[in-house]
Amino acid sequence: MSKKVLVAYATKMGATATIAAVVGAELRTAGHQVDVREIGAAPAVSEYDAVVLGSAIYRGRWRPEAVRFLRDHERQLRNRQVWLFHSGPIGPSKNQNQPLPPDVARLAHLIHPNPPKTFAGDLQAEAVAGIGAHREDLEHLIGDSRDWPEIHAWSDGIATALRTAVVQP
Ligand SMILES: Cc1cc2nc3c(=O)[nH]c(=O)nc-3n(C[C@H](O)[C@H](O)[C@H](O)COP(=O)(O)O)c2cc1C
Repeated sequence: MSKKVLVAYATKMGATATIAAVVGAELRTAGHQVDVREIGAAPAVSEYDAVVLGSAIYRGRWRPEAVRFLRDHERQLRNRQVWLFHSGPIGPSKNQNQPLPPDVARLAHLIHPNPPKTFAGDLQAEAVAGIGAHREDLEHLIGDSRDWPEIHAWSDGIATALRTAVVQP
């Protein structure tokens, strides 16, 4: 059965937005009705059967607007199927799973989402210049480490879980 799904994301430099778009496209291909929205522009959670929420990680933290979204919608999210992902690790540590930051973990404890997923991220040279960092300090991290087959596979798992899930009244 087709479900209504919100894919909401918080990004600074765009890498997480593209991951969210790919997740959304995969769910749509599987027959679900999907809206992919930047988290600040996300419609009411009450309109959806399920929510996929992703944030970029910076210095071990989620983007503040993503934490705010979890906090503000905690009660509604509790009653829905929720998947969390974050995009971060780049360079030599691109395959390292990242724990949820403590504030996000506390909220997740209340919401009971599916197990969170870490996706490797992307750091472009222009972005390094944009944040005022010295290129030579971050040179070893520059590049796109996003693993598209892994992102597709994770999305497929969600599509399957949604097909068999019972919608909460
Ligand atoms: C200043 C800075 C700090 C970062 N801190 C982390 C971090 O603590 N953990 C992590 O996994 N990735 C970290 N990253 C990598 C970013 O999360 C990665 O580039 C991500 O894909 C960016 O997503 P966005 O383009 O959606 O903003 C950092 C990147 C920068 C530039």
